[in-house]
Amino acid sequence: MSEKILTGIKPTGQLTLGNYIGVLRHLKRLQDRGDCYIFVADLHALTLPIDPEVLRQNSIDVVAFYLAAGLDPQKATIFLQSSVSAHAEANAILQNYLYMGELSRMTQFKDKSAKMNESAIGLGLFAYPVLMASDIILYDADIVPVGEDQKQHVELTRDLVNRFNNRYGEVLKMPKPEVSKVGKRIMSLSDPTVKMSKSDLKGDIFLKDDPKAIRKKIMSAVTDLGCEVKYDPENKPGISNLLTIYAAMKDISIEEAEQHFVGKRYGEFKSEVADAVIEVIEPFQNRYRQIIETKSYVQALKDGQIKANALANNTLNRIKKAVGLLDIYE
Ligand code: TYM
Repeated sequence: MSEKILTGIKPTGQLTLGNYIGVLRHLKRLQDRGDCYIFVADLHALTLPIDPEVLRQNSIDVVAFYLAAGLDPQKATIFLQSSVSAHAEANAILQNYLYMGELSRMTQFKDKSAKMNESAIGLGLFAYPVLMASDIILYDADIVPVGEDQKQHVELTRDLVNRFNNRYGEVLKMPKPEVSKVGKRIMSLSDPTVKMSKSDLKGDIFLKDDPKAIRKKIMSAVTDLGCEVKYDPENKPGISNLLTIYAAMKDISIEEAEQHFVGKRYGEFKSEVADAVIEVIEPFQNRYRQIIETKSYVQALKDGQIKANALANNTLNRIKKAVGLLDIYE
């Protein structure tokens, strides 16, 4: 049986070059490697306040970006999380196998809640990893390709699977996170010590930025002392981040990228990084625009929803049976 590969993107804010490098650029290859289930994590988007119209637009964008990245709906199953009710049902069951202590230690929860007043932190934000574990478990995923920031959630899913299977037998499939070698954590261009994220502004390259804006942001990226283009994340975080971006865009190793820039100055280096990003992102944006215009995402989602529901409901029934929920209607 071919391996099952699952991943999702949360439709909050504008997608960034970090999302592209961490996940989107790998999808075309992944769909030829295994059985891909790629979804829009729209239920997860509700864990922080979001305007309904913005959520709708962002959700369409994520699907269009999936297709623009080369996902073929004939090969991969593309769907909205909210169109498969099994996610919410699995969530209701699996929440009993993750504990408050481990949930409160999740880095993402700590980061997001640190800036909030405790009385405004929703239960959904705290319980976020339960829903994410449900997403993964329902599709019997073997491989979960993610950026480094999501790895901890996949590790917690593994703990849950272990715990559940110890109690009920081999019911759930054990997933494995897969983090790309180059570009597992793209940093902000204005502060290379923090992750590039959908909510930062100045230091982010958004996937909808036009080529002029992309060039401008890269040319004004924070660099480091010295003048050598060298990969040294500790002492040269700005240069190392740009080198990583270059290597990802050219699909080469960091060493090869470093070699290419031996003897070149920062200005020339940045200009080549900008060329490399634009060379990849411009045709990607053209495909995105065409998908939005022809609305081809609608059919992809309709087909995906049917396939996703079939598999997810199957697993859900297995889970319900294992824990002792009655099934007398068969
Ligand atoms: P999200 O929407 O924050 O990000 C989508 C994917 O992009 C990766 N990523 C990055 N990679 C490298 N550098 C960066 N600066 C960067 N920023 C983001 C993320 O690691 C992620 O892989 N919880 C998930 C969505 C989700 C999910 C799932 C993923 C829900 N259920 C089940 C996998 C499996 C999230 O919020 O990703």
